[in-house]
Amino acid sequence: MARILVTGGAGFIGSHVVEHLVAAGHEVGVLDDLSTGHRRNVPPGVPLFVCDIRDAALREVFEAFRPEVVAHHAAQMSVRVSIQEPHRDAETNIEGSINLLECAREFGTTKVIYASTGGALYGEPRYLPCDEQHPVEPLSHYGISKHTVEHYLQLYKFLYGLDFTVLRYPNVYGPRQDPEGEAGVVAIFSGLMLEGQPITIYGDGEQERDFVAVADVARANVLALDRGSGAIVNLGSNHGASVHQIAAGLAKATGYDLPPVYKPARLGEVYRIFLTNQLAQELLGWQPTIGLEDGLAEVIAWIRAGRPAPGDAAG
Ligand SMILES: NC(=O)c1ccc[n+]([C@@H]2O[C@H](COP(=O)([O-])OP(=O)(O)OC[C@H]3O[C@@H](n4cnc5c(N)ncnc54)[C@H](O)[C@@H]3O)[C@@H](O)[C@H]2O)c1
Repeated sequence: MARILVTGGAGFIGSHVVEHLVAAGHEVGVLDDLSTGHRRNVPPGVPLFVCDIRDAALREVFEAFRPEVVAHHAAQMSVRVSIQEPHRDAETNIEGSINLLECAREFGTTKVIYASTGGALYGEPRYLPCDEQHPVEPLSHYGISKHTVEHYLQLYKFLYGLDFTVLRYPNVYGPRQDPEGEAGVVAIFSGLMLEGQPITIYGDGEQERDFVAVADVARANVLALDRGSGAIVNLGSNHGASVHQIAAGLAKATGYDLPPVYKPARLGEVYRIFLTNQLAQELLGWQPTIGLEDGLAEVIAWIRAGRPAPGDAAG
């Protein structure tokens, strides 16, 4: 059993990581500034430290909780915001992470598991599926800031022996997702379809992403507690799904039949990408287990069960 601090643990992916770690018997704490996360996402019995990773007060959290492992999910996670506010993106994602690594070093944390991105870091792929050797050519400030932290992790391992595993996430989707995130299309379409509203597709709809269910991604974090030392690992499915396929899958699950509205493609977005999982299989014993149809059905079921509105007062 380990004592694990999940930064961003009140957010979409982080909260699922928390649940999986608790279920595996670990002692878990959450650190989150609640900027996009919600108090309601933190399970009862798990301490929540409301703190900005950029803040000097982070040191006090480390002093109190003394995590052996940090699963680092706190980030400015929107490609769009990063292009509009590049300073804010870098301050949170890079400087906040340096602050975190300095605390980890000072208080004897032994490992950091880092939620990186496969979808926003390789640029427009030269070959598919992208493996970890693919050149890093981000098309957004977000892709640069997320990748930069991988270098710091390698440096802190080299200088101070602080171990790490970098998990390069695909487009993660599932219950509790905020429509703003990298795979926000699932959250946006499913909400609109259930309300009978028209959906908007940016670009021609044939653009492809690698959609992996959040429970699979959370499971990889548990596996990385004692595997994947010093490794950078894609969490891909080896396959892409187009925006049209996602829309069709959700339409089938919801009985929706309105035609989509098309608008021009947005800046900073890759056209077609999916990632390998061969290294993840070798090092972590991980591959995705939840198919798209089941994963999308789970999102619809969650919304139908009454997902809390963003900014819910209980939040
Ligand atoms: N959603 C995806 O498909 C995807 C893909 C690749 C990588 N990621 C990465 O996974 C992580 C989680 O993303 P998510 O989609 O769950 O987004 P999210 O916004 O739900 O989670 C991020 C959490 O971090 C918190 N946070 C933000 N800034 C903070 C700060 N300065 N100090 C403390 N807490 C802060 C937010 O309140 C939120 O709870 C991020 O690091 C993101 O870059 C996500």
